[in-house]
Amino acid sequence: MIRTVFLLLIFSIFNMCGAQNLGSLFFSGNCITCHHPTKTISAPSAAEVQRRYKEAFQNKEEFVSYMATWVKKPTLEGSLMHDAVEKHGLMPELAYDEDTLRVIGEYIYENNFTKHKTEY
Ligand code: HEC
Repeated sequence: MIRTVFLLLIFSIFNMCGAQNLGSLFFSGNCITCHHPTKTISAPSAAEVQRRYKEAFQNKEEFVSYMATWVKKPTLEGSLMHDAVEKHGLMPELAYDEDTLRVIGEYIYENNFTKHKTEY
């Protein structure tokens, strides 16, 4: 029991400091050029992508798996945002491995992209 609690604690600390920051780093390096946190410019905003994926999936695991698979190889058939494809064209394929994309997907699920707007 104690051991489980301990492992859970370590896992959450790792998630908070490790994966979250790594996800944030990857997102800022690779996705933010097209996906602004809140504004739709050349692609839907990260907040919009998060909202649409959360509407479509019941839980984090499905959200992350689907997103990682789709981003690895974007297709029109697999897209949840046909309106965005029509407006901006299909997202180009980026050469990332699935593990990296899962870390980014977790960050997109967890992060509050609109926090700066609502805090004021
Ligand atoms: C060169 C610009 C560009 C970059 C870089 C980019 N995206 Fe996109 N992305 C787009 C465009 C344009 C769309 C809207 C069209 C579409 O859905 O295919 C999109 C759509 C998406 C969608 C919605 C998919 C759907 O269901 O249609 C997800 C999820 C996504 N991007 C994730 C990412 C992630 C994660 C990264 C970084 C690893 C990233 N994007 C980097 C241009 C980009």
